[in-house]
Amino acid sequence: MTTHTPWTTESLFEALKHIKLGGTTCLYTREKCEAMAPKINQINTLKAEKNAIILAHSYVSPEIIHTLADFSGDSYELSKKAKATNADTIIFCAVKFMAETAKLLNPSKKVVIPSELNGCSLADSITKEQVNQLRKTYPKATFVCYINTTAAVKAACDVCVTSSNVYDIIEHIPNDEIYFLPDKLMGMNVINELKRRGSKKNIRIWDGTCYVHEEYDPDLVNYIRSQHPGVSVVSHPECHESIISLSDFVGSTSQMLEHVRNTKAPSYFMLTECGLTSRLQLEDPKKAFVGSCTLCKYMKANNLDDILTALQEPRPESIIEIDPRVAKEALDSITAMFDYHKKSQSKKSQL
Ligand code: 13P
Ligand code: SF4
Repeated sequence: MTTHTPWTTESLFEALKHIKLGGTTCLYTREKCEAMAPKINQINTLKAEKNAIILAHSYVSPEIIHTLADFSGDSYELSKKAKATNADTIIFCAVKFMAETAKLLNPSKKVVIPSELNGCSLADSITKEQVNQLRKTYPKATFVCYINTTAAVKAACDVCVTSSNVYDIIEHIPNDEIYFLPDKLMGMNVINELKRRGSKKNIRIWDGTCYVHEEYDPDLVNYIRSQHPGVSVVSHPECHESIISLSDFVGSTSQMLEHVRNTKAPSYFMLTECGLTSRLQLEDPKKAFVGSCTLCKYMKANNLDDILTALQEPRPESIIEIDPRVAKEALDSITAMFDYHKKSQSKKSQL
């Protein structure tokens, strides 16, 4: 766990002042920093006293990522950190399905999700009853669920995937009949990518979407390109295929971050939640970002007051509990993901 020098209004303002996304959510004034600094210090002190760790998805507010999180990343990396931690308590600043995954991987830990608004339009788009019905309709298919699903839905499927490994894992499943859920846009991207790789898989998809990523319009990408010569268009696989085909780079949120960190385009257009742009602005104020980004109301619902409550006296519904039978079956899907991930990586390294 990280030890922290207490934050002052000035040190906080200096750290966060480069974040400029246009809206008030991520705009930091001295007054805002003055109100936040004592709470941040209180949280860091309590965190150490209680042997707690704070894991944060890159989409949550910058003050959480920069001043409180022991680790920030994409859902795959966060699940690995949750599995490996020795802390007694995991405060999971993200959405509920990610906190559930942490509990599945490290069941002896107390896992707490601070915010009440912790859904996800993808995870909320399908129930385990619907999956069971689909399994009756397509009995020969391997059911692959995106990690953006509830533990109960994971338990009803065979293999879990994340945006960082979805193409490679589905390619390596030894069955040509696949049912992928719940993201229809990611599903179309999987179909296109696997066709490009010469795979003969027959992939059926569910009808869910991420309400943040489905909004992007190819006309906007073309307009941004015409206004900003050399712009690098960077997108997430939850975007529509028309966006993917116009992108210079497509990957998970952490892969997008790495891409921007390791390249030197005159400007970047990030087609994802604003959290990624703010992380990059904070790391390197000289990088130029153009166009707009979009906020996820669920991720941005994580706030300092709720994190404090989660550490002091969490609301009972904030503490993640999963029925043991569901947990066992859901863990099988996640374990299958780690196994396929290892296989696909070792195949890649042999090439
Ligand atoms: P990542 O795993 O790429 O971080 O994606 C999670 C997510 O919810 C994107 O909307
Ligand atoms: Fe869910 Fe979309 Fe928010 Fe990610 S950005 S948590 S997929 S609603």
